[in-house]
Amino acid sequence: MSGHGDPIPMTALKSAPLKGVAEVPGDKSISHRSLILGAMAVGQTHITGLLEGGDVLDTAKAMRAFGAEVTHLGQGEWTVNGVGVGGFAEPEDVIDCGNSGTGVRLIMGTMATSPITATFTGDASLRGRPMGRVTDPIALFGAESYGRKGGRLPMTIVGAADPIPVRYTVPMPSAQVKSAVLLAGLNAPGQTVVIEKEATRDHTERMLTGFGAEIVTEDTDEGRVITLTGQPELKPQTIAVPRDPSSAAFPVCAALIVEGSDVLVPGIGLNPTRAGLFTTLQEMGAELTFENMREEGGEPVADLRARFSDNMQGIEVPPERAPSMIDEYPILSVVASFANGKTVMRGVKELRVKESDRIDAMARGLESCGVTIEEDEDTLIVHGMGANGVPGGATCASHLDHRIAMSFLCAGMAAQNPISVDDSSPISTSFPVFEPLMERLGASFTRVNK
Ligand code: S3P
Repeated sequence: MSGHGDPIPMTALKSAPLKGVAEVPGDKSISHRSLILGAMAVGQTHITGLLEGGDVLDTAKAMRAFGAEVTHLGQGEWTVNGVGVGGFAEPEDVIDCGNSGTGVRLIMGTMATSPITATFTGDASLRGRPMGRVTDPIALFGAESYGRKGGRLPMTIVGAADPIPVRYTVPMPSAQVKSAVLLAGLNAPGQTVVIEKEATRDHTERMLTGFGAEIVTEDTDEGRVITLTGQPELKPQTIAVPRDPSSAAFPVCAALIVEGSDVLVPGIGLNPTRAGLFTTLQEMGAELTFENMREEGGEPVADLRARFSDNMQGIEVPPERAPSMIDEYPILSVVASFANGKTVMRGVKELRVKESDRIDAMARGLESCGVTIEEDEDTLIVHGMGANGVPGGATCASHLDHRIAMSFLCAGMAAQNPISVDDSSPISTSFPVFEPLMERLGASFTRVNK
């Protein structure tokens, strides 16, 4: 969805104190999975709180193209009438997943064990991202793939007519790859086993259990071993999608760095495989508290309260924490710029193959705002300048990457001089209400067509 229109440059000015309640949208990971698993169930799944961002809307369209009936009832409220495991129809046209790596990789996995052919594409960002990490394991099931050099989209997948179950060790920490293999395993007879050395977000496993699949997770010396029994009949579910911790990260971090702020971000999903940023911020000395801890729909949830924190200290972020905060390094590097001392982020090379090369995008942008950065292939180090210490006054490239655009706009709210992004349009992929939500809290943006 992003990258198809004209770029929308946007500028964040130094903000008044951010105050109030920030109701961020539904979780992107859970939203994709709700639509895909709903399409694999027999009967009607009812979803509330679905993220209506570009990425998820592209997945909804894709599920229709594979034969599911997907209906929008009202804000965030959707139904999916599934076709059952193995019931996918062959799409009549190319599937365009827009900006979404999660969408394309999960859907490729899901269709890989049905006797159908589908061709996938996406925007310029997605067409540059590696798909070999999914086509390698689905080949073991018997699927074939034909893409551009380097395993890039557009790519055609010919699903396996007689799939065989696999045992696969995921070579990099990736919930998308793990999930693609599990979703492929749904339509393979017998047991599919996925092993991950480092635990990544486990929404697919939790949701498959909810939909009635037999799936067992064991922590062993080899890593986390997940065993799925193939060809279940999935039962439709009623799903209330929790609010996205990765979106909550923006108002939370903006409040920590904008003088005088006090913001409440209610109902945030705090699945331990997603909550690493908040632990890190607390270790840095952020005034961040969890209130009203509870459980909703099988996921831990809390209200986050963030207050301006004028004495945060740089820390060494433990590399083993990376999978639980992988999407949050861009905004963490902004907070680190307003802390005192060095923040060292190691074990983060996966950031180089996200919607953009996020190490490079943050390093170049922060440098142009006056921050000293060190980097190598797997590391980002930010030399903090203290609260109110970042000069700003630059235009940063967002590289078709929503999280890069939002990170620099948050930096601009606290820097001495305005910070612009060359294109804010990708924000709509994950956080379509970012601009009005932040403005209600007190942020001040300007953009060309406003
Ligand atoms: C996601 C997994 C992560 C994350 C992405 C969403 C998911 O990607 O960066 O935003 O929903 O499974 P990787 O699997 O590439 O780590």
